[in-house]
Amino acid sequence: MFLLAVLCVLYIWSPATLTGGLGSTPNTIPRKTVPIGSNGGRLFREEGIWNYTTMLLREDLNVLILGAREAIFALDLDDITVKKAMVKWAVTDTERKECSNKGKDATNDCKNYIRILHKRNNDTMYVCGTKAFIPTCDYMSFADGNLVLEGKQEDGKGKCPFDPSQRYTSEMVDGVLYSATSLNFRGSEPVMMRSSEESIRTEFSSTWLSEPNFIHMAHIREGESNPEGDDDKIYLFFSETAVEYDSYTKVDVSRVARVCKGDLGGLRTLQRKWTSFLKARLDCPVPNNNVPLLVQDVFHLCPGDSTTCMFYAVFTPQLDSSQYSAVCAYKIEDIKTVFSKGKFKTPVTVETSFVKWVMYSGDIPDPRPGACIDNHAKQMGFTKSLDLPDKTLQFVKEKPLMDQAVKASGEKPLLVKRGAAFTRIVVATAMALDGTSHQVMFIGTKSGSVLKAVNYDGEMVIIEEIQLFESSQPVKILRLSNTKLYVGSEVGVVQLSINECGQYHTCLDCVLARNPYCGWDLNADQCSTVNSTNTAGTVIQSLSDGDARGCQLRDNSKTVSMSFVHGNTVKLWCQPYSNLAEVQWQLNGKPIEASDTFQILSDSLMIFNSSADISGHYTCSSVERNYKTQHIAYDLKMWSASGTTALLHDVKGKENTLVAMVVVLSLILAMLVIWNVYRGHLPLPFCHRSEESQYVNQRPEQKRASLTVNSNTNNNHVNDQRFSSSREMDRLSTTVGSSGQISFKYIDDESEI
Ligand SMILES: *[C@@H]1O[C@H](CO)[C@@H](O)[C@H](O)[C@H]1NC(C)=O
Ligand SMILES: *[C@@H]1O[C@H](CO)[C@@H](O)[C@H](O)[C@H]1NC(C)=O
Ligand SMILES: *[C@@H]1O[C@H](CO)[C@@H](O)[C@H](O)[C@H]1NC(C)=O
Ligand SMILES: *[C@@H]1O[C@H](CO)[C@@H](O)[C@H](O)[C@H]1NC(C)=O
Repeated sequence: MFLLAVLCVLYIWSPATLTGGLGSTPNTIPRKTVPIGSNGGRLFREEGIWNYTTMLLREDLNVLILGAREAIFALDLDDITVKKAMVKWAVTDTERKECSNKGKDATNDCKNYIRILHKRNNDTMYVCGTKAFIPTCDYMSFADGNLVLEGKQEDGKGKCPFDPSQRYTSEMVDGVLYSATSLNFRGSEPVMMRSSEESIRTEFSSTWLSEPNFIHMAHIREGESNPEGDDDKIYLFFSETAVEYDSYTKVDVSRVARVCKGDLGGLRTLQRKWTSFLKARLDCPVPNNNVPLLVQDVFHLCPGDSTTCMFYAVFTPQLDSSQYSAVCAYKIEDIKTVFSKGKFKTPVTVETSFVKWVMYSGDIPDPRPGACIDNHAKQMGFTKSLDLPDKTLQFVKEKPLMDQAVKASGEKPLLVKRGAAFTRIVVATAMALDGTSHQVMFIGTKSGSVLKAVNYDGEMVIIEEIQLFESSQPVKILRLSNTKLYVGSEVGVVQLSINECGQYHTCLDCVLARNPYCGWDLNADQCSTVNSTNTAGTVIQSLSDGDARGCQLRDNSKTVSMSFVHGNTVKLWCQPYSNLAEVQWQLNGKPIEASDTFQILSDSLMIFNSSADISGHYTCSSVERNYKTQHIAYDLKMWSASGTTALLHDVKGKENTLVAMVVVLSLILAMLVIWNVYRGHLPLPFCHRSEESQYVNQRPEQKRASLTVNSNTNNNHVNDQRFSSSREMDRLSTTVGSSGQISFKYIDDESEI
């Protein structure tokens, strides 16, 4: 019974699940899996408000403007739990009734979902909502700590979707809104448009847009000094029904399209329509996948001038049969080349009515169809799109699709991973210790987590997977500031630090993490955020090799003595700090092989049907990239009635006080249970397993505490100091009830996630 109590405690200690690498190919297992309770993030959500899926970073005002359902918030950028202001924007009863009369769901769809938030100038923002299927826009200011809607109620058709479940995208360029969404109630008239005085839009033609899903828009400046005298461009990423495949079933493809900022439409042909709308297929080749993957989100990064821009895109399969998601990157120069030099496709009718799109090999008019008004056009006497000849415009109108696809940089994905589908991506540039810069990808998933990944010369390293929401809550938006990541879902927003290094407690863990933000500081004996002022030599970082030879390896793992009862199952706990580490158990110096008696799990060793010959000295080590760490050792003895103190006698050193305390608590618990049973208060001795493990799930801080104790490493004094000095110990307090029963109780009330 006493042993039962000990096992109970051990059971509570073990983390609920370690789903990290399950189902992944070996190279795409996240090195660490951070559970929801220990992600260190700050959560914002407001009672009764949902759908936190629109964000605008205002670093100039130090606020995060957050659009939700019927409400807009201004949150402190440094700490989003600080709400600086809020404004409600609800639908009226009449609007709701009209909406439900048109057959829409009154409790869900007939609400005002904030969908567009842009900065217009220093003082005003532009905001649009679905407003019960009457998309409406307004101007908003944040001044003197208040968010104020001006109440202008502009028509939002073509800017904001009617239907809150539809994908859309928009961009504000010099105070003018570019948007891609549906223009009508039914959602059947897709457009990409510019809402200026003279608004310009796409043709209503399936040749231009065929049942599209709009994903992302990006304004890329060409710069005053570009040699061609070319105009700024707006790039549009979307997926749509393909015309280029011989297929009986409907196949979708990913596309990139672009228009020129200065486009004013044509004079007769393409009046008030884009004269520069060209589109091309976007390829993200995943081996053994015949049906193209579809783009889900795009992020662009321009480290220097516009020629250095890269578009990072996440893709998921369109058929559920394959569970691979991928990230592909595209160089802007490759996209430009396809549009400015590539061949066009043209429709031809084969047999009776079947239309097939093939490469066009006839003459191409001059100026080139779809080109912006550049030096060449100006030399020919065309100073604006209204001047362009009909021949050029007619060509664009009929053949906006390029023959060539845009190939991924390196002609292969940066990352392919099985498991939860990717939903969103942002990319940050991290400066490593040696001055090289690395692109760190933050990828949101359908199961509420964020992956942090870097590609080192073709080798993809997933540094960690951080669980932020329940697995049923997909990540719906990601935004990045210099040092923080903001992650939105239908149920809340989480803020994370992107360059946090405190989670790595040992030199080995810090260096093998290959996290470009972090290096092991030998002087401070801790994992620190690297910066350019770090003097070389005292900080160790090895990003492309994971070379940790500079670490001073110390073995100060501890030994725990344990007793068991003949015939019982014993669980010895050992949690390596990396999912990539291989666990090795030894008994009296000999490797333990899996057998009927021994089962080696990722976090423990199970010993079944224990008998005298399993007694001995057990050690648990892990090996990662050829570096071996001993985590813990156990001295296992068969239980003898006289040995109540045997459990304690071998516990060495100050750092083991916690283990000792838990053991003492268990002893007291066991004795109280015995006493209670003896007095007849309890019918049978039992382990409050369901209750306790449930509480572990609910209050993950305790799990973190347990992890700290158990994931013993070479350098565990860091852990233990942190543990004993932190509030975690206070939270886990023991109370003795009036009936003399002991229960663990959570005192701290802090509502984290
Ligand atoms: C808004 O959030 C609620 C709660 O999570 C969810 O059930 C609903 O589907 C969301 N609505 C939209 C349009 O995303
Ligand atoms: C907007 O604010 C920035 C700095 O906050 C300032 O430099 C700029 O002059 C302002 N622009 C206008 C038009 O007021
Ligand atoms: C750079 O790092 C060192 C130690 O890692 C720290 O003391 C210093 O304050 C940092 N400098 C900046 C500018 O962050
Ligand atoms: C347990 O071990 C004993 C001998 O030590 C053996 O007789 C018995 O069959 C074992 N039981 C199981 C379930 O393996």
